[in-house]
Amino acid sequence: MSSDSLVCLKDFEKYAKEHLNRNSWGFFSAGAEGCQTLRDNEEAFRRLRLRPRFLRDVSVRDMSATVLGQRVDMPIGISPTANQGLASSQGEIGTAKAQFQTCMICSTYSNFTMEDIMNSSPDGLKWFQLYVRPDRETTAGLVRRAERAGYKALVLTVDLPIVGRRYPDLRHGFSMPPHLRVANLGNADLSQNKKDRNEALDYGMGGPDQSSDRALSWKDVAWLRSICSLPIILKGILTAEDARLAVQHGVDGILVSNHGGRQLDGVPATIEALPEIVQAAGDKLEVYMDGGVRTGTDVLKALALGARAVFIGRPAVWGLCYKGQEGVAKVLSILKEELSLAMALSGCRSIADITPDLVVRDSPYSRL
Ligand code: FNR
Repeated sequence: MSSDSLVCLKDFEKYAKEHLNRNSWGFFSAGAEGCQTLRDNEEAFRRLRLRPRFLRDVSVRDMSATVLGQRVDMPIGISPTANQGLASSQGEIGTAKAQFQTCMICSTYSNFTMEDIMNSSPDGLKWFQLYVRPDRETTAGLVRRAERAGYKALVLTVDLPIVGRRYPDLRHGFSMPPHLRVANLGNADLSQNKKDRNEALDYGMGGPDQSSDRALSWKDVAWLRSICSLPIILKGILTAEDARLAVQHGVDGILVSNHGGRQLDGVPATIEALPEIVQAAGDKLEVYMDGGVRTGTDVLKALALGARAVFIGRPAVWGLCYKGQEGVAKVLSILKEELSLAMALSGCRSIADITPDLVVRDSPYSRL
């Protein structure tokens, strides 16, 4: 595929499928079990229709927004994905250099250290994604490093007490190339750490002693709050009940996510879970979403349903696979251009103009 023919995010996915080896493609593309949720993350956007308004002078559009008080050029950020070194030797540093004026969330399980990632693009807004380890001292150490390195928020992933079952990895036997490291944990050679495969599949980790804590509970959210000066965002919340608990625990944000359909198969598409969480959160905290965002109109729909910003996971990896930093930048600029166009065609001049009346759930047209 020539570079000119990559015009939308799905083209980058196709490119990655053709160019990654089976091991890496399987790792990045897999969903859990029968992949109902993986597929639905994208399909649910197609079940929503837009109600455009016209005659509103859309000659100039302003896509800037704020997340936790920080200005971003567009309300589209990059979700954390582990082991970006599998997509390109530039790994997370390629992604960080491409993030330009938007927000990047760096995974605990990156192949470069959080300090190296930050130093590679110190001006870009970055949040650190945390998996709580069974060993609280190691966890507290990661939090302290993130604070020192200049990360502006801590994103606590709550939906992975245990790694979900992903058939491609189980069938073909996933393995980490020996040159890749779980850099933040100083674990030099993953090929030495394949004892517990289920734990290793997503994150290239060693045995259970190094994986995320299965006993994680709301008490730990309170503990994190007590040791961390950064705003805390919970990633993976899918219900109004948990959103209310998040408010009670004084967190600053919720990232509505189902881990890209990789954890519990059968949970709702995130765009469908979003409204109840927005409603439960009220004005107490900011709500973001990820999962299945592939076009500018997807972004428009998520913002209309109350997300303050959306994040992309796999599409950034496909960009990285295509041409490292340049590929990620191209993915982001396509999405930005598509959002700008979608705003123009629906009568929105700013993000504040994107309101719930722009979206209808079930198409009235299909019932005629
Ligand atoms: C992830 N995700 C993830 N989440 C997280 O909190 N920490 C992590 O290290 C990872 N790692 C990871 C690896 C891979 C290969 C994938 C595909 C996903 C989940 C990720 O942050 C995000 O929620 C989803 O990827 C969003 O869905 P889309 O955009 O990929 O459809």
